[in-house]
Amino acid sequence: MAYLGSKANSKGIIEILNNPMFNDYDYLEPFFGYGRIGFRVTNKNSYTLSDYNTNLVKLYAYLQSNPTSYPVISKDEYYRLKTSTDPDDTNNRVVAAFAYSWFGKEFGSYVPISRAQSNLNYYDKIRTNSVFIDNTIRQCDYGEYNPVGKLIYCDPPYESTCGYRNNSGGKNHFDHDKFWSTIREWSKSNWVLVSEYHAPSDFVSVNEYTKKTTLNGAGTGCRVKITTEKMFIHESRLEEYKKKLVIVPVLAKVSRKRPCKTVTLATVVKEKDTPWSWYKYVLYFFLL
Ligand SMILES: C[S@@+](CC[C@H](N)C(=O)[O-])C[C@H]1O[C@@H](n2cnc3c(N)ncnc32)[C@H](O)[C@@H]1O
Repeated sequence: MAYLGSKANSKGIIEILNNPMFNDYDYLEPFFGYGRIGFRVTNKNSYTLSDYNTNLVKLYAYLQSNPTSYPVISKDEYYRLKTSTDPDDTNNRVVAAFAYSWFGKEFGSYVPISRAQSNLNYYDKIRTNSVFIDNTIRQCDYGEYNPVGKLIYCDPPYESTCGYRNNSGGKNHFDHDKFWSTIREWSKSNWVLVSEYHAPSDFVSVNEYTKKTTLNGAGTGCRVKITTEKMFIHESRLEEYKKKLVIVPVLAKVSRKRPCKTVTLATVVKEKDTPWSWYKYVLYFFLL
């Protein structure tokens, strides 16, 4: 399953967002993308999920309509859909845009069904996800929010990456300075966590993780490389964060190879006396 900038290695992020200190918060994720994070965030009072990308939001709307099967899209059809403005093409167009595109880069370049299948499998998976079932993913710019008292997770477009399309098909020029100013403001009355490689000096990293990225490069515009991403919080919230974070003990994994006696239900049933087992006691009595 691929989407440009999607979180392949997201365990460290999920552990923080699902930390008991954030239970029952109203959760806001304004750069929702393919939902690799949002669909795994649990124990929240409410979920507000959105992304600026119109085609992506239309894809979610299509999936929420519970289609019985997905379109199989040929290469010719893919390039026809790319420029189509016919409303009847909308569902096929949004499936083509992401599932049938190389590394999920919106209409980047065509991949056949054999490569698209992992995306279609992911669609099946999210359609049974309770966050997806209970919430609508909105189309809006992150700047439209004026949040108070929320837990906010931001995974914005990164600086110096090959970038996303804007809703007219051109390059999306993301204003990073404006973004960090907004996060400073939001941090005054919300918990705000941001995934990025770098941040201004008044932000501190509370976690680091390596991931495979499909950003930067020539050719189709992207290539894969391993990078270290960080999770930032504003310095003004760090002490409180450290105090409130609940240290969840990590249970040691028990090796499957370790020898141990496993008593299964089947074993118990087998060992239980059957209605005929009294015969063996009678026989035993006569033998004595
Ligand atoms: C790094 S991706 C998010 C990936 C996501 N975490 C995932 O797991 O798939 C960044 C997202 O921000 C969206 N975006 C770009 N500019 C935006 C804006 N001004 N407001 C809201 N969303 C924006 C893009 O459409 C893209 O989906």
